[in-house]
Amino acid sequence: MQPIDEEKLGLFLKQTSGMVAASFNCAITVLGDRLGLYRALAEIGPCDSQSLADYLNLHERWVREWLHQQTCIGQLEYSAELELFSISAEAHAVLADAENPAYLMGGFDSALAVFPAVSKLEEAFRTGIGMSYDDHGPSCACGIERMGAFTKKHRLVTEMIPEIPGMHQRLTDGASVADVGCGGGLATIALGQAYPRSTFVGYDTSEEALARARANLAEAGVTNVRLCNPLTEPLPRTATFDLITTFDVIHDTPYPQDLIEQIFAALRGDGYWLCEDIKGFESFADNLAQHPVAALLYGFSVTVCMNSGLSTADGAGLGTLGFTEQLAREMTARSGFKDFQLLNIENPMNNYYLLNK
Ligand SMILES: C[S@@+](CC[C@H](N)C(=O)[O-])C[C@H]1O[C@@H](n2cnc3c(N)ncnc32)[C@H](O)[C@@H]1O
Repeated sequence: MQPIDEEKLGLFLKQTSGMVAASFNCAITVLGDRLGLYRALAEIGPCDSQSLADYLNLHERWVREWLHQQTCIGQLEYSAELELFSISAEAHAVLADAENPAYLMGGFDSALAVFPAVSKLEEAFRTGIGMSYDDHGPSCACGIERMGAFTKKHRLVTEMIPEIPGMHQRLTDGASVADVGCGGGLATIALGQAYPRSTFVGYDTSEEALARARANLAEAGVTNVRLCNPLTEPLPRTATFDLITTFDVIHDTPYPQDLIEQIFAALRGDGYWLCEDIKGFESFADNLAQHPVAALLYGFSVTVCMNSGLSTADGAGLGTLGFTEQLAREMTARSGFKDFQLLNIENPMNNYYLLNK
C-alpha cells in the first residue's frame, strides 16, 4: 500500500458517505411513493410538515423528518425564508408521474427489493450459483415492470410496430403474437388493446411475474391474451407466430442460445422478432469511460440480471450489459436468423433489434 494522501482520502470519504446516504434514500424514497407524499406535495404546493401530514392523515413528526432527509439528499426543495417545502416539476416527473418517460420510481423499488438477497448473494460468490427471479419475491418483478412501463404503454404501438414492415396491417387483420419473458404483461396489454383481432401469449418462467401479469390483464379487461409458463408449456416447436417480442430478456436468461433457438423455431417464415436489450459498448473499458449509467446497470447485474443468468450451474450469466449488439448478431446468426437490423428507436437504456428468418 502507498501512504495515504489526506486530500484524496477526504474526497473519497465524501463520495462514499454520499453513497451511504443514497442507500438510505432508497428506502425513504419508496416510503414517499407508497405513502403518496410526492403526489401530495405536487397537489398542495409549497407547504410545511403539518399541512402535508394533515393532508395525508399521517403523523407530523415522521413527515417532518422525511422532508428534512429528502431536502438534504436533493429530491425536494426548501425555502428557509418561508419555511416551506416543495417538489420541483423535474423531481415530480422522475418520482411521481408514471406517465412521464423520465419516471424512475421502479428503479428504487428494484434496488430495495434486492437488499434482502445479500446473504444469498454472498453464498453465490462462493458456489457460483445465483438466484432465480422468483427467489427475490414479488417486489423485484414489480420494480422491473414499473421501470419499463412507459415504453410499453406509450411507445410500443405508436413507434415500434410501425418499424416492422407490414406488421400494423397484419395485427389489425388478426395475427398470432408471443411476448417471451412478459413480466407484468404490459406489452401484451398494450398490443392486445390496440389489435383486438390478434391473439397474444405471454410467456414467463417467473410465477411472481405471471401473477402480476394476471392481475394487470384482469384490471385492463383484456381478453385476447393468454399467459403461460414455458417450464410447463414450452414455446411451440413449429412455426406459429407472426411476431415474437422480448423486452430485456435475453441477457437475463440462463440459456440465451437455447431461447434464441426456440424463438427461431416458433416464428413463422415471414414473421419478425422484435428484441429489446440493453444498450452497451463491446468492452468494459468503453462502458467505464463512456456509458452514462454503467454503475446503475452493473448494480442491476450483480443483484438481478447476472444473478438470474447464473441461477443454474451451467447458466450463461451474460449480465445486464452482456448481450451487446455484436454478440446479438453472432448468437442470432448461429440460430439461423438471416436478417438483423438495429432499429432507429431512441432510448438511452435499450437497443431494438428486428430479426427475421
Ligand atoms: C428484466 S425482466 C423483463 C420483464 C418484461 N419483459 C419487462 O420488460 O418488464 C426479464 C423477464 O424474463 C423472464 N425470463 C427469463 N428467462 C426466460 C425464459 N427462458 N422464458 C421466459 N421468460 C424468461 C424473467 O422471469 C423475467 O420476468
